[in-house]
Amino acid sequence: MRGKKWSAWLAVSAVVGGIVALGAGSGDGEEDRALARTRRQIRMLDDIYKTAVVLITKHYVNDEDDLPAGTAAIVLFGEIKKKGWHEVKLLDAAGDPIDDENTAQDGFEKAALEKMKAGSQWYEQQVTGEDGKRYLRVATPIPVVLEKCTMCHENYKEAQPGEAIGFLSYTVPMVE
Ligand code: HEC
Repeated sequence: MRGKKWSAWLAVSAVVGGIVALGAGSGDGEEDRALARTRRQIRMLDDIYKTAVVLITKHYVNDEDDLPAGTAAIVLFGEIKKKGWHEVKLLDAAGDPIDDENTAQDGFEKAALEKMKAGSQWYEQQVTGEDGKRYLRVATPIPVVLEKCTMCHENYKEAQPGEAIGFLSYTVPMVE
């Protein structure tokens, strides 16, 4: 009985192993999988970062003197970049940032800004870095999720429900 189970398991793993080996051998297929894995990783990061910012704002930010979740996020993003995980920036899409540094800078970010303002939920571009490695750049919108956001960002009061007032700009190494 035991032996039978083992041989069945071995047969299954041989088939799975074969499929994995086949996949790894075919260039384009593997590239597509790296792209799919990187997209999935960014979707996960995006959900974690945005959920954290909303929870912190909801529970800990009660007046204008409290540390804004956005400021905390920028510090967190700095640490993540320093450790070489990936790069992510909190950028303005409403035209009047609190900190001018949070303005779209390069071609990708400027194109992303237009896409976000037009209602796009995901804008991406594949790039090769100076290190020769492949990266996926992605922008995702930030709407006025809580009434509280307008406490410090007066101009968000003019935003339509769901309209992007900001966005996150990711540059993530392709997950090989
Ligand atoms: C307590 C004040 C405060 C609240 C509440 C607040 N923010 Fe901010 N926000 C800031 C500050 C200060 C910065 C600039 C941070 C920096 O550059 O270090 C900022 C930056 C930003 C930026 C980048 C553009 C810019 O203006 O510099 C976006 C986008 C943003 N916040 C969105 C939001 C959203 C969405 C909410 C509600 C969930 C929110 N903020 C709530 C104070 C606040």
